This record gives sequence, C-alpha cells and structure tokens, in this order.
Amino acid sequence: MHTATQERIIRPARNIMGSLRLPGDKSISHRYAMLGAFAEGTSRFRNFSTGADCASTLACMEALGAKVRKLADGAVEVDGVAGRVTPSSQPLECGNSGSTMRMISGLLAPQPGSFTLVGDDSLSRRPMERVRKPLTEMGALISLTDGHAPVLIEGAPLTPIDYTTPVPSAQVKTCVLLAGLQTAGTTTVREALRTRDHSELALRAFGAKITRAIDSVSVTGPQTLHAIDAAVPGDISSAAFFLCAAALFPGSGLLLDALGLNPTRAALLDVLTALGARIAVLNLEELHSELVGTVQISADEGGLRSAEISGALAAQLIDELPVLAAIAPYTSGGIRIRDARELRVKESDRIALVARNLREMGAEVEEFEDGLDVPGGQTLHGATIDSGGDHRIAMAFSVAALRAEGDTLIQGAESASISFPEFFDLLDLVAER
Ligand code: S3P
Repeated sequence: MHTATQERIIRPARNIMGSLRLPGDKSISHRYAMLGAFAEGTSRFRNFSTGADCASTLACMEALGAKVRKLADGAVEVDGVAGRVTPSSQPLECGNSGSTMRMISGLLAPQPGSFTLVGDDSLSRRPMERVRKPLTEMGALISLTDGHAPVLIEGAPLTPIDYTTPVPSAQVKTCVLLAGLQTAGTTTVREALRTRDHSELALRAFGAKITRAIDSVSVTGPQTLHAIDAAVPGDISSAAFFLCAAALFPGSGLLLDALGLNPTRAALLDVLTALGARIAVLNLEELHSELVGTVQISADEGGLRSAEISGALAAQLIDELPVLAAIAPYTSGGIRIRDARELRVKESDRIALVARNLREMGAEVEEFEDGLDVPGGQTLHGATIDSGGDHRIAMAFSVAALRAEGDTLIQGAESASISFPEFFDLLDLVAER
C-alpha cells in the first residue's frame, strides 16, 4: 500500500514561549475506548486523543458492536456491548497501532467467534509472539505468521495464569488482564520493571476489582464493567517535544495545562530537571485516579548538562528517548542511553533512525545494540530527515531542527498525526523566529 508522504520545513527558532493545552493521552484514550466499548452503558470521554492510533481502536470497537459518536465539543460517546462483542466478518484494522492490536487480542481471546487483526506495514513487522504466548498458556487459539500479524483468534473459554512478562510491556500486561477479566479464577501478571499503570487505574474506574502488589497485578474473573464519564489528561509523551524544545532556549517559558502526570509516565520531568531545566508543577488533581497538573518549564543561560538513562528509567522513558537523543548534541555533557533495546521494535528501529538522522545533521553519535551515546557540545546543521513513517522520529527531529543552523526538511511529516495531529501548528504557535 502506498500512502502519500508530506514534507515540512522547520526553520530555526530564537525562543519557545507560550501556553498550551494538549489533546488527551494516547495510552489512556486507548484504554478508555476499549473498556467503554466493552462495558455496560454509555461512556463519555472529553479531550479524547485526536491521534489516528486511538481512532483505530475506536473503529475496531465499533466493528465489534459498540456504538461510537463524536460530539460537537470533541467528546467521544461510546455505547458498550456489555461484555459480549459481535464477531466481525471483516478483519479488524489496527493501522499503525501496536497498542490496539496487542490489547484487543486479550479482550477477544475469551470471546466466542473468530477474529482477525491486521495492521499497516510497520505494525506487520512488529513482534506479536509476546501476546500469543501468555494467551496460548491460558488456552487461547491464536495464530500468527512468523510471529507477526495478521493475528487470527478462535475465541474460547480460557483458564487463568500467573504470568511474568519477559520484557517490560504495559501492552502485554493489559492484554493478559483483559483476558483475565473474562476468565473464571485469578489471573496474575508479574513484571520485573513497573510499566505504565493506566490499565490498572482504568479497570478500577470502570468498576473492576483488581489487586496490586509491588511487582504484580491480579484480576479475578469474570467481572462486569460499568460506563464512566471522564476527561482524558493531556498527553505527556506529546508534551515531551515541547518540554525538550523549551529546555533548549535560555529565556524560554512554556506552560502546559491539564497535563497527565501519572508517576509511571512523568520521568521526563526528572531527567529535564537533572539536565538543568527549571520545572514547576502546579494545580495537581486526580481524575479517575490519574494525576493531572500544570507544568511550567523555563531554561536559563547555564544550558543543559548531561544525562545517563539506563535500567528502569530507560523502560519508563521509552517513548521519550528519541526526542531526548535528538536534543542531546545541544547539552554540554551529552546523553548516554542503554537498556533500551525495545526501541528497535517500535514503529521503526528508533535506535538506527535516530543515529542516522543525527548524523545527517552533522552530529557525532555512537550506536549500540541497546542504546546510543550522543556527545554534547555539538553544532548541528539543517538536513533532510527521514522519519521512516514514525511519528516520534518526525517530531523529535523537528525539535532538534529548532536549534540547528539552517532549515531542516522533515520527510513523512504526516506521521505526526498518528499520535499528535496538531503538533506542527502548535510548534509554530510557540516557536519565536
Ligand atoms: C504503551 C506501552 C508502550 C509504549 C507505547 C504505548 C501503552 O509499549 O511504547 O507507545 O499504551 O501501553 P510497550 O507496552 O510495548 O512497552
């Protein structure tokens, strides 16, 4: 399939100033859409993610019998199927979204009927064995092609498991929990490193009882979910591009309102603070157990220092690593990233693509199997950037381009709309030239 690609020219900026409220978090929107569509009753979600990935989840859930309405104020209303989906005669199209494919697989494995999940070229290259394995241990009938999509599911009643995830993955954890929710007995997922806990919080918000321990979460099925009315917090992984941009300019000032600050997602604030940015968090509140607040960031003449990101921190920051690597040449001491092998199986091989694009801009960078060393104190020049159709690569290098000498051309700029269609407009709004 050939899709038209767009190019964007990013001119250097003098400063970043302004205040923004960002569209709803992608991870939370996926979960609210799936759980709302599966629950009993009508849910309403304000500030739902505007990204194409969450639209894929909504479309899949619609194809499975849920009713979805977009309201005039941008809210999304979902009539749930009360625990029983309708098998679709057509394959369920997950587009570019790994979250959609992996999490819905768990929801469907215990449902009666046959289901096929397909995705675009990038998603069809991503590993799916990680969901087939635990679901098969539960007795599910799932087949893949060489470990990849299409995912074929013959729904069947399952048996509970106690499963330790081999690589930290919130998607896999969620997949198993969604299957466990519909399975008689107690299903437990254990993880060595704690991943984002939106599913745990959302399941509780929809009325499920789950038990959490330090390194595990359990659900005893079967349980029924009940509709909720919720506002989705702003997406901190989208905010990351603006936070990193503001951190690059002494004298900058940016305020991000109603931003999701779930502690399993907010490690970027600590890293930016350690690098030397000034960050203040105001107006903290909880919405359905998700922490939300206003973040103020500024940078001073001292510039950014250095950072080492490895171990648990690398797992927590996995979606923010491309933009951190992209701004690393502008720090004084560089940024070293390790234990981030998972970056190689995201929407693209993000380690290879970050290294290649940094070099295009004239930077020195060393690539490792599980990370990157990007020395600091470098001057970059404008270049042609290949986003590889990966939204986070397109946006990360748009940020790097703000401090480069000369203009940068971002190829495949339309990919930003996978998570953040408003990105380039908002960047123009806050970038002073
Ligand atoms: C996500 C989990 C992460 C992350 C992805 C969204 C989620 O993936 O990279 O963008 O919403 O659960 P993994 O679960 O594969 O680590």
